[in-house]
Amino acid sequence: MKIAVIGTGNVGGALARKWARAGHRVTLGVRNTTEFKGKELLDEKNISVAEIEEAVKKSDVILIAAVPQATADIVKLMGNVSGKVIIDAMNSVRTKPDGFNNSFEALKALATSAEIVKCFNSVGFNVMADTNFNETIADMYTAGTSERAKEVAKQLSIDAGFENCYNFGGDDKVALLEQFALSWINLAMMQGQGREMIFKLIKR
Ligand SMILES: NC(=O)c1ccc[n+]([C@@H]2O[C@H](COP(=O)([O-])OP(=O)(O)OC[C@H]3O[C@@H](n4cnc5c(N)ncnc54)[C@H](OP(=O)(O)O)[C@@H]3O)[C@@H](O)[C@H]2O)c1
Repeated sequence: MKIAVIGTGNVGGALARKWARAGHRVTLGVRNTTEFKGKELLDEKNISVAEIEEAVKKSDVILIAAVPQATADIVKLMGNVSGKVIIDAMNSVRTKPDGFNNSFEALKALATSAEIVKCFNSVGFNVMADTNFNETIADMYTAGTSERAKEVAKQLSIDAGFENCYNFGGDDKVALLEQFALSWINLAMMQGQGREMIFKLIKR
């Protein structure tokens, strides 16, 4: 796939590297192509950099892993997103987009021509970088009403090394998936379990 990554820090950087190594073409979409977080990603074979609008133009899928309060600015900078899949990895932990409860709500209202899905928000970036827990492989979770966007998110989860990507439900379950991420943050950071932990779906 041709993927634009907007927000090239911890999360965007870890996923860009995984996807590039899986054979996808990744374009980092940045505000300043000479100075941005994650510049070392350009050492990877399938990763290049461009201004946000150019990166989006070249891509079919867009990962947004910036900060929620920047959502409206990013929508403006992206230009035409008609028919493209947008994967929203942001959590409104401390900040929210102006006038919205979370980045997904803002994207649904402001980027109406895109197919939008929530994914890659529910574990730490360290888990995205290495999904292997002593031979148990981490799971990913996704929510949103667009089935096409969810299929893309699922495939990109597998390509990033997750064992499975479970469907949390439609747009009405996105807030729940953010709460799920906050549960990870609570256990890992506030209750002292540390970042090297996951929630695994187990059945019998
Ligand atoms: N950290 C985690 O473990 C984790 C896990 C799951 C989800 N998340 C979510 O993922 C998001 C990113 O987290 P992170 O830890 O990767 O953050 P980070 O390392 O601080 O990176 C943030 C990125 O956002 C970019 N950015 C900021 N404002 C922007 C704007 N107005 N337009 C375009 N790009 C902008 C920054 O670009 P510059 O370098 O140019 O400033 C930077 O590349 C957050 O919403 C967080 O809730 C984080």
